Amino acid sequence: MKILILGVNGFIGSHLSERILNETGWEIYGMDLGRNKLSTISHSKRFHFIEGDISINKEWIEYHIKKCDVVLPLVAIATPRTYIEDPLGVFELDFEENLRIIRQCVKYRKRVIFPSTSEVYGMCTDEEFDESTSNIVLGPIYKQRWIYSCSKQLLDRVIWAYGQKDALDFTLIRPFNWIGPRLDSIETAKEGSSRVVTQFIANLVHAEPIVLVDGGSQSRSFTYIDDGIDALIKIIANDKGVASGQIFNIGNPANNCTIKELAEKLSDIYRDHPSNIISGPCSEIIVKDADIYYGQSYQDIHSRVPNIQKAQKILGWAPKIPLDDALKQTINSFLEDIIPLTREKGPAVCHA
Ligand code: UGA
Repeated sequence: MKILILGVNGFIGSHLSERILNETGWEIYGMDLGRNKLSTISHSKRFHFIEGDISINKEWIEYHIKKCDVVLPLVAIATPRTYIEDPLGVFELDFEENLRIIRQCVKYRKRVIFPSTSEVYGMCTDEEFDESTSNIVLGPIYKQRWIYSCSKQLLDRVIWAYGQKDALDFTLIRPFNWIGPRLDSIETAKEGSSRVVTQFIANLVHAEPIVLVDGGSQSRSFTYIDDGIDALIKIIANDKGVASGQIFNIGNPANNCTIKELAEKLSDIYRDHPSNIISGPCSEIIVKDADIYYGQSYQDIHSRVPNIQKAQKILGWAPKIPLDDALKQTINSFLEDIIPLTREKGPAVCHA
């Protein structure tokens, strides 16, 4: 099978490619702006990489949609601070550029696996979000945070409609706070624009305060990347066509925890880390209002727990990695990158 992955150097793209090349005979054609996360696989004969931008290299993309069997358009802006600072950029990349790719999948009758998002459910008050029954609840227009959710939701609806009208073979996946090595860069965390796990790890490493937005009572169900990739591999394999025309929540309800608990767990893991350059007390945990931390156009999601019965039943998939293990693996991978750099500059010291 030939698979086209746009955004192959991203968090999901790089992990998925590693797994495909290590465990299947499938071939990958991938495009991204860079290749820094692909060092372990770039030597593979089944990995064909081109450096490029999906908004520029349109001919390459169309040619490879024709050539491949399955298309994964993974390019998107997925960090909440960018939704409020550059909402039009989010719309243009996440919606407009991806719509063109979806239309080419319709034209050339290719299977598409599209990353929807847990954010689609917005502020739904259901205890668990269900693909078939949960309502989608977004805030007022000036709350620009919702442009990402809304862009993804509209593409979900467009893809669904193409499935009905033109028999587009699709699967929509809704990742719920996938975490792990290579999630976001520690560099983007410097401006406060990483997702929460990377942000808190960066705060710990730089001995800066960890900020709990609005007190940190909001919760997320964190899912380890390897579990997510297990599901994706089953969806790509699509045994007996079970994943075609389906939407799947891919998350780990057993790993639901508040952001305050997350901060405490990460602080504990960091403080007890066996590395000899981490010593002393760690970053303090402080509270800030969302209006101050993000600005007026931010609005939060209080609770986000996936119902995963559909993925369990249809795909025979279940997440396995408990939260503490997932956080340890994630911290370790970031520290492996940072420790040699920090050593060159002298020991990192944690201040209370
Ligand atoms: C994320 C992103 O929108 C996407 O990556 C993705 O589609 C989706 O959720 C997902 O991964 O399922 P969210 O979980 O709100 O959205 O993003 P984070 O930035 O990771 O924030 C999680 C929570 O931590 C929020 O309540 C936020 O207010 C809080 N937070 C964040 C803090 O308390 N302190 C910080 O320094 C950063």
